[in-house]
Amino acid sequence: MKTSYLSLICGLSIIFPINAKTIDVDITPVVSQEKSVVAPEIYGQFAEHLGRCIYGGIWVDEDSDIPNTNGYRNDVIEAFKALEIPVLRWPGGCFADEYHWKDGIGPKNQRPTMVNSNWGGTVEDNSFGTHEFFNFCELLGIEPYLSVNVGSGTVKEMMEWIEYITAKDGPQAKLRKENGREEPWKLKYIGIGNESWGCGGNFTPEEYSNVYRRYQTFAHDFDGNKLYKIASGASDYDYNWTDVLMKNAKNQMKGLSLHYYTVWNWNDKGAATDFTPELYYYTLGKALEIDSVINRHAEVMDKHDPNKRVAMILDEWGTWWNVEPGTNPGHLYQQNTMRDAMVAALTLNAFHKYSDRLKMANIAQIANVLQSMVLTQGDKMVVTPTYYVFKMYVPHQGGTFIPLEINTPYTPVKSERKDFERKVPMVNATATEKDGTVTLSVVNTSLDDKAKVSVPLESLKVGKIESGEILKGEKISDYNDFDSPEKVKTEIFKDAKIKNGHLEIEMPAASIVTLKLV
Ligand code: AHR
Repeated sequence: MKTSYLSLICGLSIIFPINAKTIDVDITPVVSQEKSVVAPEIYGQFAEHLGRCIYGGIWVDEDSDIPNTNGYRNDVIEAFKALEIPVLRWPGGCFADEYHWKDGIGPKNQRPTMVNSNWGGTVEDNSFGTHEFFNFCELLGIEPYLSVNVGSGTVKEMMEWIEYITAKDGPQAKLRKENGREEPWKLKYIGIGNESWGCGGNFTPEEYSNVYRRYQTFAHDFDGNKLYKIASGASDYDYNWTDVLMKNAKNQMKGLSLHYYTVWNWNDKGAATDFTPELYYYTLGKALEIDSVINRHAEVMDKHDPNKRVAMILDEWGTWWNVEPGTNPGHLYQQNTMRDAMVAALTLNAFHKYSDRLKMANIAQIANVLQSMVLTQGDKMVVTPTYYVFKMYVPHQGGTFIPLEINTPYTPVKSERKDFERKVPMVNATATEKDGTVTLSVVNTSLDDKAKVSVPLESLKVGKIESGEILKGEKISDYNDFDSPEKVKTEIFKDAKIKNGHLEIEMPAASIVTLKLV
């Protein structure tokens, strides 16, 4: 595919050309004996005490004028219901290693405050604590994923927190009951520290392996609750961290985490809404690179654990731009365009390929921080283009992965920096099967050209299009804000048909299509 940059920059926004070419692309399903199921948990979310993620994003307090249910925003609850969120990680992030859970229980007017030193020095009043988090998860049928404080906490603190949450009787259960919760909650996922190589304590992997082994020893199962213990993992290309942790502690963990953001320059991450075609393709290249990063970490894990007993848990991922002008730099509030939607779709497509090892992923973050599902301002809320991708992809949750061969042209990504040189496939896709329905999601990454996609259906044993949805903007930089909340949204997709045993899809430039086939 030829990358025409003539279509760019009109007041720094990228307009799709009127005289677009149509490029033929073939997608062939590969019949495979090895079946792996896409863990619903890879559609997980992350909520940190950071900026307005919790306060103003999820939680407004019972007395707020903003319509709420027991303090949780009604608009946000409704939006989240449609995503069928399987798991939610809390309370951090870097915040987790400074969080002392006892500050967040009991009468609100008696809870101590603290300075959130990682995120803008904002004073945290602890009004959203253990009860508020677990009740929120219960309300939405979400599995909680607790990140415990290793960096500035103690083993005793962690032990008592688990007991408080999950024990039927005993001193911590008594305290919980005094605070209004009779029955224990269920707690499955527990992360021992966060980014322990950095904000979580600056450990070496050898040191952290030992610390992990000690902490997990005292992470007890109470009254039938069974913990799934996750060790703090590497970031990006740090394969040595994975190697050392697997070597020293694989028998003590169920999961090992990994973090990956699409940042190419931490000093200037670029604007969320103003970007050139070059930056668009760089970002997509960086997003696609998650495939090889997962693959390399998986190879290291395979070396120590060929039977794949230990899961890879990608518990932070997504785009990270400069904050919106005029907002607190420590609050990581960013807009979310069709470019972010493309990143989400390409990343989720890559995740499906590794469903034999990758058992959870948590996009950062659920509200008002980084690549969010929703943005709020006072009593207003918008859902983002990324939200729509997660909504379109709900049918993939729990589906059996169908490998695809894609015969597509590529957009070369040129750069003076070697590490930016990647190539972006024009068409990228994923397919899963569940209860006789095949869900196919196809991404046309081209800013210029339409794609005519052809898929032979024989091996899929389906012959009818049940439904179709498309997500696209008028411009790749389109986003939803409080004045135009529905600029980007999904529409019913009709440009697909079945002819001579082939599915034929006509996709506009920069679009994402999901089809259900029966
Ligand atoms: O998601 C924002 C921050 O990114 C998290 O707190 C930290 O774990 C990561 O560096």
